Amino acid sequence: MSKPSTARQFQIKYLVVSKAPDYVALDPQHSAVPAIPAVISVQDLVHRYEGRTALNGVSFDVRHAELFGLLGPNGSGKTTMFRILSTLMVAGGGRAVIMGFDAAKEPDALRRQIGVVFQAQSIDLKLTAAENLWHQGHLYGLRGTTLKSRIAEMLARVGLSDRAKEKAETFSGGMQRRLELAKGLLHHPAVLLLDEPTTGLDPGARRDLWQYLQILRDEERVTVIVTTHLMEEAERCDRLAILNEGKLVALGTPAELKREIGGDVILLDTRDAESMAERARRPGPSRAGKWSSLHYRRGRSFSRRD
Ligand SMILES: Nc1ncnc2c1ncn2[C@@H]1O[C@H](COP(=O)(O)OP(=O)(O)O)[C@@H](O)[C@H]1O
Ligand SMILES: [Mg+2]
Repeated sequence: MSKPSTARQFQIKYLVVSKAPDYVALDPQHSAVPAIPAVISVQDLVHRYEGRTALNGVSFDVRHAELFGLLGPNGSGKTTMFRILSTLMVAGGGRAVIMGFDAAKEPDALRRQIGVVFQAQSIDLKLTAAENLWHQGHLYGLRGTTLKSRIAEMLARVGLSDRAKEKAETFSGGMQRRLELAKGLLHHPAVLLLDEPTTGLDPGARRDLWQYLQILRDEERVTVIVTTHLMEEAERCDRLAILNEGKLVALGTPAELKREIGGDVILLDTRDAESMAERARRPGPSRAGKWSSLHYRRGRSFSRRD
């Protein structure tokens, strides 16, 4: 450790803590009292793509009405897990069960239990908000007045009632995401899966979406599993599974993980701050303590937990 000098320095903070959310959970203790154990059960899941291991023996359970986060840097296997849970892909090994249905053996029954929001856009921009939901409802066998009232209910829920007859292409990014969410929830799923749902959203829209997920959990008792690579989003989850290079490196509440992972800050002086920051960003060995959210300020200081 040394004193700051004239050399350009960077500050890298691990586990950046976001501002406290406005939303106050109705029942902050609910995750500790599961009504039904293990709504989602992942056991020793393994998946390889052409010689590359994307998931390497991952196991965890998700409880009823839990907001569960899958956190990890890019390439850690989050989307692979999401594809397996949503039955888009069969795992190379292990088992994934949702609401008692095995993803590999009973994909049709499992699909009826889940709503899915993919990272890539799935709404049709040339259709209105209501038409998008109408189309989705038909895919799930909903018809007539039941579907009509369900569409009205969902549009109200995501704050798009007054835009029902407008084309989705006229919506902001946040509104389009909310329409995606309405689509995923139209058939009343018990479990909602979302893959990096806030990608491309501004901070306000991101915050709204997370608040909405918390409301869904508390008021509808929907079990939500959401992937993110952002620490400040992960903090809003009841529990987190942290993936790194296809392995589960930590599992627990955000507070537990912060206690476990949070550590010292070391200030280093360097004449070549850019290259040092670059080296600090490179993934280290697969252990929880090395997973990081990096943030640096020019002309200040440089730190890395090691
Ligand atoms: N379709 C694919 N074909 C080959 N390799 C893939 C494919 N999809 C993902 N991978 C690889 O699997 C690993 C995990 O990827 P992914 O599940 O997309 O991680 P994440 O969503 O956390 O970024 C990465 O090394 C990635 O390059
Ligand atoms: Mg991904």
